[in-house]
Amino acid sequence: MAVNPISNGPISNGPTSSGRLAGKIAVVTGAASGIGRATAERFAAEGASVVLNDREAGALEKFATELTGKGAKAHFVPGDVSQEADVRRLMDEAVRAFGGIDILVANAGVIPEATLESATADLWDRTMATNGRGMFLCCKYAAAVMAKRGKGAIVCLSSISAFAGQPGQAVYGPSKFIASGLTRHLAIDLISKGVRVNAVAPGTIATPAVARMEKEGIDKVVKLHPIGRIGRPEEVANAILFLASDEASFITGAVLPVDGGYLAQ
Ligand SMILES: NC(=O)c1ccc[n+]([C@@H]2O[C@H](COP(=O)([O-])OP(=O)(O)OC[C@H]3O[C@@H](n4cnc5c(N)ncnc54)[C@H](O)[C@@H]3O)[C@@H](O)[C@H]2O)c1
Repeated sequence: MAVNPISNGPISNGPTSSGRLAGKIAVVTGAASGIGRATAERFAAEGASVVLNDREAGALEKFATELTGKGAKAHFVPGDVSQEADVRRLMDEAVRAFGGIDILVANAGVIPEATLESATADLWDRTMATNGRGMFLCCKYAAAVMAKRGKGAIVCLSSISAFAGQPGQAVYGPSKFIASGLTRHLAIDLISKGVRVNAVAPGTIATPAVARMEKEGIDKVVKLHPIGRIGRPEEVANAILFLASDEASFITGAVLPVDGGYLAQ
């Protein structure tokens, strides 16, 4: 995994010198697209120094350059979260670039559509490699840095698919169940280290991953959201921001639906 240093220069002031995350250092995985990108943008606007990861190196570099152009403190580390060496490098780079890690947003994920019949063992393995193993590795290595400093907040990306049976989610749904399980168990493991662990469970959100779904499938899913529409990445970023910030200081082990009422039915 190559580490590109273009975003390492000290950039101060600008719109990021104050805000709800002023002075915090945040690692966001899967930051080149969708919810991760919206979250990193919001975090930077709220004063965080952001360490951006994605396996799409070109898109990641472009995004990091955009952010630094706006005066944000951003560092990017391309890599695959399912690879232990890449994850170790990501966390090491965050410490080297900014001095520590206060927040991890374990967002990188894939959203395959498959029924039990159409799913293959290979699809299962590839999905679990990112959504399961990748999330576990990111939590493990970020928490180690946080524990040394006695503070930190982790936000994992679960999904309504972890809780509600849906057509075509035979692989994806269980992979998001892992996110909710990790959240609850790690919250207990890490509580004595000063590290909070929470998750968001978004409904269907208008991101490139969802745009890749068949239109018929999206239309059906939209109807299942009582609010009458799908969500925007920024609406998930708002919830992640809250859980990651000190405003959520008494919240750990929670999985917050951000779903237009989907799970309330
Ligand atoms: N969009 C939705 O409707 C929705 C709903 C619930 C949960 N989620 C979750 O939100 C997260 C983000 O989804 P999105 O819709 O923004 O998807 P997206 O495809 O727009 O963005 C995901 C990003 O993760 C990156 N990525 C994938 N595998 C990776 C890996 N192994 N290592 C590093 N980067 C990797 C991709 O390159 C991409 O840039 C996922 O965990 C997804 O399960 C999405």
